[in-house]
Amino acid sequence: MKALVLSGGAGTRLRPITHTSAKQLVPVANKPVLFYGLEAIADAGITEVGIVVGDTAEEIREAVGDGSALGIRVTYLPQEAPLGLAHAVLISRDFLGDDDFVMYLGDNFIVGGITPLVDAFRAERPEAQILLTRVPNPTSFGVAELDAAGAVVGLEEKPAKPKSDLALVGVYLFTPAVHEAVRAIEPSARGELEITHAMQWLIDADRDVRSTVISGYWKDTGNVTDMLEVNRSVLETVEPLDRGTVDDASEIIGRVRIEPGAHVTNSRIVGPAIIGAGTVVSDAYVGPFTSVSEDCRIEDSEIEYSIVLRGSSVIGVRRVEASLIGRDVEVTPAPRNPSAHRLVLGDHSKVQISS
Ligand code: G1P
Repeated sequence: MKALVLSGGAGTRLRPITHTSAKQLVPVANKPVLFYGLEAIADAGITEVGIVVGDTAEEIREAVGDGSALGIRVTYLPQEAPLGLAHAVLISRDFLGDDDFVMYLGDNFIVGGITPLVDAFRAERPEAQILLTRVPNPTSFGVAELDAAGAVVGLEEKPAKPKSDLALVGVYLFTPAVHEAVRAIEPSARGELEITHAMQWLIDADRDVRSTVISGYWKDTGNVTDMLEVNRSVLETVEPLDRGTVDDASEIIGRVRIEPGAHVTNSRIVGPAIIGAGTVVSDAYVGPFTSVSEDCRIEDSEIEYSIVLRGSSVIGVRRVEASLIGRDVEVTPAPRNPSAHRLVLGDHSKVQISS
């Protein structure tokens, strides 16, 4: 069995972070969201992994390399334009050969991994197996309609009037039967070859398409609220570690991971939290559910329930909450006189000022 991991796309919902970085590489608990998917694939015993890449190909290659660090062998499959998930299957035909495969959308996060699902598929081999989860906003997803016996009777991509609240999760299992389907369908109204339509084609041809309903799923970590939530849930499971230096005037409470070369002085850190390698925390409070990436400075500040990416500094600011701070960002107080906010913000930034 092989895996096909989709890592293209523009990530419009996570702007401005994704102006400069692939959405699949945004970190959750200081690890790119894509790596959780690749680890779940490796855990399920799959080693041959094709990664479909687009505009951000270079960045993805740099992060994942040949996959050996994750116990997988990666083949990169360039897609010339984001022409849909079924198009990604179409261009991956040579890589996939006649093997069964799991297709995994690289920005999806599934608590507990995919091993039970892959094992069940291997044992029963329906022609396709999908995952569904109940969501409050089905119009943003592919939506499934089930009959009274629980069989999938219809699938619609982002319907205006959804027939259920069961959304398609971005993990699909296929036998080679899907290749016939992706060749048979036409582009949708948004100009993409939809995998949802390929599966509807299989259903219409009376092929065996099964579904499993799961919980513990985050849609493509596609917005800041979801990112903070998934970060919170992963931080609750990280192993505490103290590989940095913490002085006697500091207090570390609960599940806190301090990575190599981090320095904590005269500060209070209440877990779950991660302080990245080379980061300096001084005269500060870092509260629960905070991930600070590597080479940051948190000084004379208070921060909680937030994600801070590489190389950023938060100095002399209290209190920062529910925030996603990008790379090499500086957050500092403005001069007092005159009292004014001074902002240098990239396109699509969002700032909420308490004054
Ligand atoms: C894609 C699929 C959709 C699915 C979603 C899950 O949508 O087309 O059916 O529910 O992934 O993440 P996209 O987010 O690419 O628009």
